Amino acid sequence: MHSVLSEKKIVLCVCGGIAAYKSVELLRLFQKAGADVRVVMTRNAAEFVGPMTFEAISGHPVFSGMYGGTPDGKMRHIAWADAADAVVVAPATANIIGKLANGIADDALTTFMLAVTAPKIICPSMNTHMYENRAVQRNLDVLEGDGFLIVDPGEGELACGAVGAGRLPEPDYILDRVAGVFVPKDFKGKKVLVTAGPTREFIDPVRFVSNPSSGKMGYAVAKAAADRGGDVVLVSGPTALKTPFGVSRVDVVSAGEMAAAVFEYMVDMDIIIKVAAVSDYAPVDTAEHKIKKGDGGIAVQMARTTDILAELGRRKKQHQVLVGFAAETQNLRENALEKLQKKNLDMIAGNLVCGPESGFCADTNRINLFFKDGRTEELPVMEKSAAAHVLLDRIKELNQPQIKRTEKTKN
Ligand SMILES: Cc1cc2nc3c(=O)[nH]c(=O)nc-3n(C[C@H](O)[C@H](O)[C@H](O)COP(=O)(O)O)c2cc1C
Repeated sequence: MHSVLSEKKIVLCVCGGIAAYKSVELLRLFQKAGADVRVVMTRNAAEFVGPMTFEAISGHPVFSGMYGGTPDGKMRHIAWADAADAVVVAPATANIIGKLANGIADDALTTFMLAVTAPKIICPSMNTHMYENRAVQRNLDVLEGDGFLIVDPGEGELACGAVGAGRLPEPDYILDRVAGVFVPKDFKGKKVLVTAGPTREFIDPVRFVSNPSSGKMGYAVAKAAADRGGDVVLVSGPTALKTPFGVSRVDVVSAGEMAAAVFEYMVDMDIIIKVAAVSDYAPVDTAEHKIKKGDGGIAVQMARTTDILAELGRRKKQHQVLVGFAAETQNLRENALEKLQKKNLDMIAGNLVCGPESGFCADTNRINLFFKDGRTEELPVMEKSAAAHVLLDRIKELNQPQIKRTEKTKN
């Protein structure tokens, strides 16, 4: 899933906080993503989780004491720092944050950190009052200014009983943020609009017409574009998904609301990728109160909603790239090509939504790409996150002349 982490050398630094147990899961997730992980611990961290656990899982000795000997004749704090592709401190205690902000090197972890030149990711975790303490905030500002990437803690009920900010984010979120460090920032400066999810067209206050779109594909595209440095707005129908880091999300419910949001934001965009499954029809009238059931059936009169993609195609400016999705149950090629032409798209990603590998809610997709110049490309079944990156690669290729033109205009 996170191929960018494959064969990367990650050093995981564990400090003496209550969330140290989560570092074990984080270590396993890094390994699953293909990374080789070494662990550095403070002596206080060992009060929370034993080094043996990290040693057994990482397959490497844990570095915890400065003067424990150098079996291979190398100074570990230098050798490990030189070899690291990225260093993650999770959990980072208030104490370590203070020491790192002041260049203190009085144990293995802090001495090692001073020697690191690779990207450094800090995941603070502590009691809310400690986290909000001005000294801690000041130290975090210093670290940010020194180029550390700070992963903000989550909010909620903490182990100490307090409620507020200070919770170590879940390991999969931290993994995502670390992976983001390795993704090339080739969409930097590009404004990207993505739509995702289904729409709901209400018949009465408790019933609606919709479709099974989970939003996973659109969210994957938005996340990939943000990871690659794009300035991303995600117009989303109702989904159960978390907003990807760095993405501005605009929530809508109906096709009408989605159309209004998309037309508002499209003007400034360089790239528009319409992944949402928008309802083509909506009830002509929505009953004010719940329709009570009677003995017979009911008929609901439906009218066409705005064809957002077609309208975008009409309004598209010369520098804009417009990409659509075609979710079909048959005749994929014919339907996708017709949509491509009729709606003035630069590219369309077609997928059959009836298979287990490419259904609405699946984590994988099998996409066929159709380009304006007649080229087509069949992608194999892949994770939606991977498919999203391929899609962006192709958009980048389409976008090359425009990138050059924009640069020229600036000079
Ligand atoms: C039960 C317990 C839980 C603690 N949890 C945290 C924590 O979550 N975050 C934190 O910054 N300090 C926490 N502390 C305090 C640190 O352990 C203490 O500041 C220590 O000096 C940190 O050492 P280190 O930064 O060298 O690992 C906790 C202490 C105890 C006794």
